[in-house]
Amino acid sequence: MSSKAWALTLAASLIALAPLAQAEVDGEALYRQHCARCHGDDGRAKTWRGYLFFAQNLSKARWQERESDEDILEAIRKGPRAMPAFADKLDAAEQQALVHYVRSLRQP
Ligand code: HEC
Repeated sequence: MSSKAWALTLAASLIALAPLAQAEVDGEALYRQHCARCHGDDGRAKTWRGYLFFAQNLSKARWQERESDEDILEAIRKGPRAMPAFADKLDAAEQQALVHYVRSLRQP
């Protein structure tokens, strides 16, 4: 194949792959949509709902260390205490993206 043909093939496959990249789930957007009203944008739960429901401070290093990814996923799916369950509201990829985002809320 000539180098020009290669370049065209490459360009064509990049265009074909673009929608896949867009379909990736945005954990931060999901968090803001479903979780921030209680746990706060920064995870510290300094919101009035956070106080009212005693929502967990997700930024706390000690809590982050104690909690496994499975624990966080379980909390999202089942919703402990006053927290709503998200097992039927979000698909597996969305739940996983949220676990990942919750991890990013950790403060040193
Ligand atoms: C209605 C308010 C509310 C909403 C909305 C909410 N939570 Fe919670 N969340 C709580 C409360 C209350 C707890 C329980 C704290 C406890 O275990 O003592 C909690 C606990 C948690 C825990 C920790 C459980 C543990 O074992 O320590 C995680 C992780 C969590 N929430 C993540 C999320 C995520 C992610 C979302 C969004 C998908 C979310 N929460 C939405 C109120 C809420």
